[in-house]
Amino acid sequence: MGSTEKLRLGVNIDHVATVRNARGGAYPDPLRAARIAEQAGADGITAHLREDRRHISDADIEGLMEVLSVPLNFEMAATDEMQKIALRHKPHAVCIVPEKREERTTEGGLEVAREENKLAHFIAPLRDAGSRVSIFIAADPRQIEAANRIGAEVIELHTGAYCDAFAEGRFEEADAELAKLRDMSTFAHSLGLEVHAGHGLTYDTVSPVAAFKEVRELNIGHFLIGESIFLGLEPAIAEMRRLMDEARA
Ligand code: PXP
Repeated sequence: MGSTEKLRLGVNIDHVATVRNARGGAYPDPLRAARIAEQAGADGITAHLREDRRHISDADIEGLMEVLSVPLNFEMAATDEMQKIALRHKPHAVCIVPEKREERTTEGGLEVAREENKLAHFIAPLRDAGSRVSIFIAADPRQIEAANRIGAEVIELHTGAYCDAFAEGRFEEADAELAKLRDMSTFAHSLGLEVHAGHGLTYDTVSPVAAFKEVRELNIGHFLIGESIFLGLEPAIAEMRRLMDEARA
C-alpha cells in the first residue's frame, strides 16, 4: 500500500441533528447536510445513533439508508437494541463505540480486551449480514490485538488525546500521542486490520494523521459542522479534503 492511495473522508453529521434537536423541529435536516457533504467530496457519511437519541434519530438512519449514494458508517454502542437496528438496515459499515463510562479505556476508546468474548459474539451477526465491523479504540497494542482476535476487519484509532493536547498547547504531549498513533497504525496494519482514525480533528491537527500511509479513512464531524457556520458546509468540507490530499501527496 503506497502513501498515494486515496485517503477517504467520512463526514459525521451528528451535530447537524444536535442543532435541529435544540428546537425540536425538522431544521436543519441532517439528510440535506449529507447530500452537500457528498458533493463536497465526502467518501462516506458517519452517524451515531445514541441510546438516548440526543442527536441522530431512528428516522434519520432510515432516511440516510434511502438517499445516500456513498456508504453509511453507522456508529453504535454494543447493545441488543442497536444490533437489531443495524441488522435491519445492513449499513456498509458499523463502528462499535463506547457510550458508558465503564465501556471506555482511560484514553476514551472501547475496552475490547476486557470484553473479548462478549464483543466477538456481538459482532459476528453484523459481519454475517455484510457490514464491515470497525472498533473505536485507543492507540494501545492490547486493544488492537483484542480487536483483531474478535474478528473486526477495521479499527478506528481515537485521535482525541492528540487533538486535546494540541488544542491546549501541550505540544510535546501532542507529539507523543501522534507517535503512538503512527506506531499503532503500522502495528494494526501488520495484523491485517484496516486502519481508520478520528475524533476531534481540525484543520490544525489533520495533516500529520492524514500522512500516515496505513490510515485509510478519517471520520470528522464536530469541527466541520462548527466551521460550516462561518464558511458554509461545502467549503468547510472541501478545505478539509484539500488538506488531507495535500498531506497524502
Ligand atoms: N469517529 C468516531 C468513532 C466517533 O465516535 C466520532 C464522534 O462521534 C468521530 C469519529 C468524529 O469526531 P468529531 O466529531 O470530534 O470530529
